[in-house]
Amino acid sequence: MSPFHVTRTLPEDATDAALRADVLRGLTRSPKTLPPKWFYDAHGSDLFEKITELPEYYPTRAEREILIARSGDIASATGARTLVELGSGSSEKTRYLLDALTDLHTYVPVDVSESALTQAGHALIAERPGLDVHALIADFTDDGLVLPDTPGPRLVAFLGGTIGNLLPAERASFLTSVRSLLAPGDALLLGTDLVKDESVLVAAYDDAAGVTAEFNKNVLAVVNRELGADFDLGAFAHVALWDAENEWIEMRLRARTAQTVKIPVLDLAVDFADGEELRTEVSAKFREEGVRHELADAGLELAHWWTDAEGRFALSLSVAR
Ligand code: AVJ
Repeated sequence: MSPFHVTRTLPEDATDAALRADVLRGLTRSPKTLPPKWFYDAHGSDLFEKITELPEYYPTRAEREILIARSGDIASATGARTLVELGSGSSEKTRYLLDALTDLHTYVPVDVSESALTQAGHALIAERPGLDVHALIADFTDDGLVLPDTPGPRLVAFLGGTIGNLLPAERASFLTSVRSLLAPGDALLLGTDLVKDESVLVAAYDDAAGVTAEFNKNVLAVVNRELGADFDLGAFAHVALWDAENEWIEMRLRARTAQTVKIPVLDLAVDFADGEELRTEVSAKFREEGVRHELADAGLELAHWWTDAEGRFALSLSVAR
């Protein structure tokens, strides 16, 4: 058995069909929305990497601090032989876990980006000879993800705070489908950004250098390229706001003037009123009790809650009942 396998569960044209469906649905409803997963073409992924290095964007550094401090605890608490990482991307932070998980037999990175998976997979194999890497090209938010038959105990990691991009009902079904991948005693390691001062949160999503603004507008460039639309990126302004009731950050794009955007592939013309806002992302922020509750509702028992020294971000380890 060769140590590097790639399994595609996502049809080659799934991305295209999903983008069309999301754009049609999101731009013909009121208020208009686009799902955040479409930020991440090659340029958007580069911009996100830049965001993680901005002084205002603390989550990546805070989560790294926790992983460095707690990877040993995670290894001894789980004894994991299989690590599944949802939305693995470049697998950068995973190294701390891989180094600590001494009994690890198989690493299963799951991502929609085949190029990210193969790059990261080959790099890991060179560093960690003997480790089986079984990459899955899949959308982890679709349920029905099927994992390769690998030795337990299993640890599923979902890092970065990306669970915050899901709305509460979506989180509930996501956590339930994660639970269905686990046997009793298996574990979930979940990264969640925490509720904090509004000014700190808003600055993290509206940085002084304007990188997040460019990242936000990039979704329009993706729709232009993939669906032949004629969005004028300069005709929209970046908006980041804190919704105190829902405890989430929203990113929006606000039309600077009234305009009509044509999307030929969908045979659609979309009118924007002057000042009309299109919601492009929800990034929910969490509290320990809320996370404990959402996990419990999915059959997962919170066992550890670790934060960075400043209490900005948490990693939780929960165990399948
Ligand atoms: C990658 C989803 C965790 O919500 O903070 C960064 C994406 N959006 N800046 C987040 C993002 C704006 C990020 N996640």
